Amino acid sequence: MSTTFQLDTSTSRANPTPQPMKRLTVPRIRARKTDGATDEPLVMLTAYTARQAQLLDTHCDLLLVGDSLGQVIYGLPSTIPVTMEMMANHGAAVVRGSYHAVVVIDMPFGSYESSPEQAFESAARLLKETGAAAVKLEGGAAMAPTVEFLNTRGIPVMGHVGLTPQAVNVLGGYAARGRSDAEAEKIVSDAKALDEAGAFAIVVEGVVESIAITVTEAVSCPTIGIGASARCDGQVLVTDDMLGMFERVPRFVKRYENIAEIIEKTVATYACEVRARSFPGEEQTYQPRD
Ligand code: KIV
Repeated sequence: MSTTFQLDTSTSRANPTPQPMKRLTVPRIRARKTDGATDEPLVMLTAYTARQAQLLDTHCDLLLVGDSLGQVIYGLPSTIPVTMEMMANHGAAVVRGSYHAVVVIDMPFGSYESSPEQAFESAARLLKETGAAAVKLEGGAAMAPTVEFLNTRGIPVMGHVGLTPQAVNVLGGYAARGRSDAEAEKIVSDAKALDEAGAFAIVVEGVVESIAITVTEAVSCPTIGIGASARCDGQVLVTDDMLGMFERVPRFVKRYENIAEIIEKTVATYACEVRARSFPGEEQTYQPRD
């Protein structure tokens, strides 16, 4: 019997109560694309903490514990310095905070590239320590043997082509990919190789729209676009970007809110009240019982 949990967000920060709902599975996500088409696009967002996962979970098909946490949470200059420990700790928190979405964890730079065996060891550790269902890794045809190796040993893999941030030192920046014919052809053949190797979905990031459409039509598994096309089989964004936590975001991000402004205003009010000794007030202080 599978045990799944609903987190009671109104009364507790992390206090699960049993809930008769089964978590989505990788095969169900994969099966959303049949005969080359997906009826309802897949919804994926990044999540790094238990509370964030609680808030996003019921709205999403997939939660991605992205290595973007290096920049978003840790203030690092890129995803390159992200460690296995960071991914494992945040991955476990996201699994604890969710009961519905499939949780996918990014494999950090340096944890999978040297051999399929290295990738298996790292991916197995991430799944064991977090309870996540799948891993994501960056790279195209060169990673296909690794995708097949993991998949045939029980580890579902999401691919990632186009703009691959872990390759920033080779790419020379974060500009959109696929503006030359050679680059466009490479992105399409990379995606096909990952699909044939058994990737259950492929993130297509920062590419010219026509390439995203070609890739989506060329592969049998769902594509998940970010800076790609509305015609991908799903979409993903970095949650903190779409909520407006940062002033500078990539052009492809739509900011649905300005959370940074709300936080700043709220904190300014708190600081004023503390300095004026109007907080804590009567309601927030304890008096002796009569
Ligand atoms: O690390 C991340 O958040 C990602 C998404 C942007 C796809 O890889």
